[in-house]
Amino acid sequence: MKYAIHKIIFLFFVLNIIINAKTNLPEKIILNLTDTPYNSIAITWQSKQKYSNPQVQFAISTKWIEFKKNLYSVSASIDSLISEDGKITYFYSSILQNLYENTLYVYRVGSDTIWSEWNQFITASKSNQPFKFVYFGDPQNDIREDVSRIFREAFRRCPDASFWLFAGDLTDEPEQSQWDEWFEASGFIHKMIPSIMTVGNHDLTIELVDGKKKRINDYILWKKMFTLPENGLENMKESVYYVDYQGVRFIVLNSNYNLEEQAQWLDKILSSNKNKWTIVTFHHPVYSTGSGRDNSKTRDSFMPIFDKYKVDLVLQGHDHTYARTHKIRNGKVSSSGTVYVTSVSGPKQYDTNPNYKDLLAKLNSYVQLYQVISINNNKLSYKSYTVNGKLFDEFELIK
Ligand SMILES: [Fe+2]
Repeated sequence: MKYAIHKIIFLFFVLNIIINAKTNLPEKIILNLTDTPYNSIAITWQSKQKYSNPQVQFAISTKWIEFKKNLYSVSASIDSLISEDGKITYFYSSILQNLYENTLYVYRVGSDTIWSEWNQFITASKSNQPFKFVYFGDPQNDIREDVSRIFREAFRRCPDASFWLFAGDLTDEPEQSQWDEWFEASGFIHKMIPSIMTVGNHDLTIELVDGKKKRINDYILWKKMFTLPENGLENMKESVYYVDYQGVRFIVLNSNYNLEEQAQWLDKILSSNKNKWTIVTFHHPVYSTGSGRDNSKTRDSFMPIFDKYKVDLVLQGHDHTYARTHKIRNGKVSSSGTVYVTSVSGPKQYDTNPNYKDLLAKLNSYVQLYQVISINNNKLSYKSYTVNGKLFDEFELIK
């Protein structure tokens, strides 16, 4: 009898482990670039129940499964948040360091008995090797229904993108239910292609202020969902930062607030920039092309610094239209100026605003777009594609 009870308890224990492993799998796994993408990468994921020993296992990829004999393990930090529906979510974050450059790695995330599938990523090169990346304007609305196909088309067109870059308003509200749609839309892509993210106005945290819902100057879910570089402003971590990638300095700004403070930081970061190319991204465009809109604060704060340091390209969102300027310097078309692009990937689209038409090479709306940008030594090649696979806009920059 005593033996039988022990057997039942043991079976119950094993069954519990099996059920838990199947229902508490790692979710929303996403890679982000670090500020040294040639030797490290950031991984963030989530679970419904708390893992006791969260970690990432990784190795250099091999032609068969023999990599499993030489695994490295890195523990993860744990965070949590109660969602809008009252459910608790656990967030885990790890940075894999001391990696070899330009190397294919295999990794999985989880805990002692619960693991994701094995996935792969490639580290950047330390030198100025050619690469390409994909840039998206606001996905924001109806993500499962209408954004899925543009993410998947971008992946079909450019499966070897080094990373994806988002110019803000990733979802309409910073809510887990919308992020459920996001990860259904992008599926495994975020597990193999890292991202650079920009905070838009819709990514800001919503709180009740005097009984009314209001966006505050913080992005709480964002900081838990992603692991982004912290080399920018101390009080705007993971929304103001830069990444040097194979000869290009990518600078990410948060155009929602503290613009003057960011402008000073931008000046400092650009004054010491030794990269061949400079690309800046933020959400609110300097030349607004959405009907009835204008962003004079962004224009006044940032543009004089772009002119001073001859920034090559600025990637923006927010206006739910497409606009690409000629090269602009001191507010005028100039052969030595900066190209400003506003794009939109999601279904929400606005009528165009012709206020700045004299500065624009292209202006359009009611088209879902993604952009593939290639850098090869002294040539930057930009191509914008429609969701149904047509080349929509293109230009080259030579230096
Ligand atoms: Fe926006």
